[in-house]
Amino acid sequence: MGIAVYRLLTGEEIPLEFHRVRVVQRTRLIPAGDRLSAMRRAGHNTFHLPSRDVFLDMLTDSGVNAVSDRQLAAMHGADEAYAGSESFVRLQGTAEEIFAMPFLLPVCQGRAAEDIICRALVRPGSVVPMNYHFTTIQPAIAACGGEIAQIPVDEALDTGNPHPFKGNFHIPRLARTLGRERERIPFIRVEACANLLGGQPFSLQNLRQVRLLADGHGIPVLLDASLLAENLHLIREREPECRGMDIRALVREIASLCSVIYFSGRKLGCARGGAILCSDADLFERMKDLAAPYGGFFTYGGMAPRDMESLAVGLEEAMDPTAIRHSPDCVAYMVRALAENGIPVVIPPGALGCYLDAGKILAHVPRERCPAAALASALYLTSGIRAMERGILSSARGKDGQPIPPPLELVRLALPRRTFTLSQVRYAVDRIVRLHGMRDLIGGLRFAGERERLRLFWGKMLAEDGWDGNLLSALEAEG
Ligand SMILES: Cc1ncc(COP(=O)(O)O)c(C=O)c1O
Repeated sequence: MGIAVYRLLTGEEIPLEFHRVRVVQRTRLIPAGDRLSAMRRAGHNTFHLPSRDVFLDMLTDSGVNAVSDRQLAAMHGADEAYAGSESFVRLQGTAEEIFAMPFLLPVCQGRAAEDIICRALVRPGSVVPMNYHFTTIQPAIAACGGEIAQIPVDEALDTGNPHPFKGNFHIPRLARTLGRERERIPFIRVEACANLLGGQPFSLQNLRQVRLLADGHGIPVLLDASLLAENLHLIREREPECRGMDIRALVREIASLCSVIYFSGRKLGCARGGAILCSDADLFERMKDLAAPYGGFFTYGGMAPRDMESLAVGLEEAMDPTAIRHSPDCVAYMVRALAENGIPVVIPPGALGCYLDAGKILAHVPRERCPAAALASALYLTSGIRAMERGILSSARGKDGQPIPPPLELVRLALPRRTFTLSQVRYAVDRIVRLHGMRDLIGGLRFAGERERLRLFWGKMLAEDGWDGNLLSALEAEG
């Protein structure tokens, strides 16, 4: 199995790679003045930066993970048939073996799965309890006339709290919600390594309790398994009863507690596309109908067969304990290094990346001036690193048209799987520490143009009082 985390003679622990890098892609760090121009053109929204102006792209892990040699080889053997492709048969067979669910609907990506599931199950007035929301599920539920009820444990909303399973449900509160709203609840949604809480896992014990409560009311449990691989690793590491448990047995048990599983293949499986899995033939037939107008025939659902091949191999590789621990080990390395330097960061380390607490770092910037977006902008100016705002800019709007301020104001630095080297991660830590020392120079952002929907994608902003130029001058003066 290997060592995975190695302790150097200095005492420092480093994540060891158990893979070779055979293909690389050139990247460049443009001069600071050019970064300022690029960021101003982008309206301080990192989504609008051209990739060529980005040195380390930590925007997301979605669809940008390194593929394995076996995935690449499998893609060459794809059966590009419109209907009944052998690639679909292989994907379905692999998924059935892993999750023990007989029906699989491929989808073009995770949010397409959410759209289909919500149109099948959510009705006007529905309430969907979940451990935490994600940017894509909330609008999908709202579009069907429903609303969400977020029921995480209290520790989840305290970024400095080291609770090992911040993705857990608050069980007594969930019980009360189920008792009160039973008629309005179409399903309970559990998100593996809840993204917007900082990639925080649920425990197997908590999932069992959720299922027990759900059974008492005849409510199905749905799993968003996009970050399941990392959740499996963290359960095996942090839950005493599951330490070292056989990974396939663990997946089988998790799957047996759920009625429907869906995921983004851009994350789980390091591929593209995604899938919905279930055991209910009637529900499957309904979802097939809903998928057809936009996804196409159910044996490809909008996915290219070569991506189904890649996903099938990627799912198999997600059953390898050494392979799936590399990403959370890298995240842990980065989180530890930041915390040791006094940077407010979400602890304990979770999945996907490292989440800076912009609410704490820029406590002097009012919420409506988008502290997390301002910090992400300043980070790019300082380092050429692109991160993602995960705060008020990412939030959905309420019925009154106003953004609903989420409890956390974070900047996420994603570490796509097997993509960055340790020296690049150390560069990121060093630049963040430097920026933190200059945080008083960072101000707020004012909207230059707003859209009603998805401000995260479309919003353009201006730096108040030209703090962006002042920050750059101060950095250059320091040399
Ligand atoms: C937990 C979670 N669910 C769903 C999605 C949506 O997946 P996709 O980007 O493939 O539409 C994401 C994407 O980031 C995610 O992190």
